[in-house]
Amino acid sequence: MQSETRVAVSSAADIVTARQKGRALAMELGFDGSDLTLIATAISEVARNIVDHATEGVVRLAPTNHGSKHGIQIVAEDKGPGISDVTLAMQYGYSTRKGLGVGLPGAKWLMDEFDIDTRVGEGTKITMKKWLR
Ligand SMILES: Nc1ncnc2c1ncn2[C@@H]1O[C@H](COP(=O)(O)OP(=O)(O)OP(=O)(O)O)[C@@H](O)[C@H]1O
Ligand SMILES: [Mg+2]
Repeated sequence: MQSETRVAVSSAADIVTARQKGRALAMELGFDGSDLTLIATAISEVARNIVDHATEGVVRLAPTNHGSKHGIQIVAEDKGPGISDVTLAMQYGYSTRKGLGVGLPGAKWLMDEFDIDTRVGEGTKITMKKWLR
């Protein structure tokens, strides 16, 4: 089994790297066509949130399995300010910095599983999965 890929994220260039490495791993795991684009887009959004809202963090990419399902897991983690109201942050159009506010709900929509673990003053960990069809 392939090991985890870790991308430190603190710049626009790092977001591109995370996106490219995620796409490459997804391809290795058997994803194709539009799935590769959706996965890469979801990675871009959570990586961009690290830069925009937490300054720095890490994106970890790894194969994952559940029973007979195989897929990709993406974890975006930072020690930034955290999110005080996750329900609000998950709504389309909600942004604390004049963004479109589509990053988090968009990423959730693109992936099969999406989980946010966040604590104000401690940081945010987003775990997303996409399963092969
Ligand atoms: N890693 C993070 N750390 C702290 N707050 C975050 C983080 N990610 C998201 N948020 C909060 O959740 C809100 C919604 O995030 P979302 O990505 O949907 O919108 P945005 O980043 O503000 O704008 P957009 O992504 O559309 O440019 C953000 O405005 C911010 O307040
Ligand atoms: Mg965003």
